[in-house]
Amino acid sequence: MTTDLTILGIESSCDDTAAAIVRGMPDDASILSSVVYGQAPLHASYGGVVPEIAARAHAEKIDHCVEDALQQAGLSLADVDAISVTAGPGLIGGVLSGVMCAKGLSVATGKPLIGVNHLAGHALTPRLTDGVAFPYLMLLVSGGHCQFLLVAGPDSYRRLGGTIDDAPGEAFDKAARLLALPQPGGPSVEQAARAGNPDTYKLPRPLLDRAGCDMSFSGLKTALLRTRDAIMVEHGGLPVHARSDLCASFQQAVADVLAEKSRRALEIYLALNPAKPVLAVAGGVAANAAIREALQAVCAKLDTVFVAPPLALCTDNAAMIAYAGLTRFACGDHDDLALSARPRWPLDKTSPALIGSGKKGAKA
Ligand code: KG4
Ligand code: ZN
Repeated sequence: MTTDLTILGIESSCDDTAAAIVRGMPDDASILSSVVYGQAPLHASYGGVVPEIAARAHAEKIDHCVEDALQQAGLSLADVDAISVTAGPGLIGGVLSGVMCAKGLSVATGKPLIGVNHLAGHALTPRLTDGVAFPYLMLLVSGGHCQFLLVAGPDSYRRLGGTIDDAPGEAFDKAARLLALPQPGGPSVEQAARAGNPDTYKLPRPLLDRAGCDMSFSGLKTALLRTRDAIMVEHGGLPVHARSDLCASFQQAVADVLAEKSRRALEIYLALNPAKPVLAVAGGVAANAAIREALQAVCAKLDTVFVAPPLALCTDNAAMIAYAGLTRFACGDHDDLALSARPRWPLDKTSPALIGSGKKGAKA
């Protein structure tokens, strides 16, 4: 195929209902529209995503979201070459909403259906946003994902390591809850940390003593809880300055772990002698300035380019799903109505599973 493809993408695997239109070819595609209806207010009082509430909200919003994406792109369904949808991994009710919507549109229009892996969407984003060439190293850090992926081709992923318990975003969210800061926790912990000193409290750097690129963040959260309790005993409460210091110390611990594990992942990747080495990040945690700085410093030492796509394309969105679908469809590959929704779907088919289902959905 040499002509440009126009792909409708649909995403509903966690707490964002999203639709987008992407046009082009795998080496040169552009986003015509990208619409995201976030559900954060619906889940805020529960301290995490409630799967049933998420599924219902997706089902209510998904067709409006598709209409908005088409309208913003100035297109109708007739102009679309294929319909790409997240078929997993994620919260099953949400994934099903998207898959059923995509199947309905496919039946009604006769357009081919493409089921894509949500993680492949994140992993291929640096190609869409920055034209990054294979192979590159990818760090996914969000509320639901945490893994290093060596991306060698559109369907070639090697997981070099990942979290064995919480994802970093999940740890930030739990930390915020323990410190009575608003959700989502990442931005509020980061804001509080600005006024704090990261050297005040000695929090652990879990798994740095273990070889390899696996990570763990749940012990860090427990250490934060113990430190908070000790401060409260000493001061009869949690003074604002101590909370800021604790946030800064926590953030620094996460940044140190991600930086050191990234250095190790980069060493494995650099042994492949890539022509222009790249470490790319995706996920909401990539918004954190201290973490970005720490990753950038590691890349600078190893002559590696650090790529951080715009935040709206780092977090969950449907442009990445449209682009991953475009990449498959350009090779003549698509699914049929037998496509099923998969709560778990590891990208790397060879590495053993690290963990089971997490708070914000199944991890892979
Ligand atoms: O990628 P994302 O929007 O959704 C999924 O988890 O799939 O990531 C959201 C996560 C939340 O846990 C949030 O607390 C975290 O990313 N996050 C941050 C920051 N902004 C968002 N974590 C640390 N620092 C931030 N500035
Ligand atoms: Zn995601």
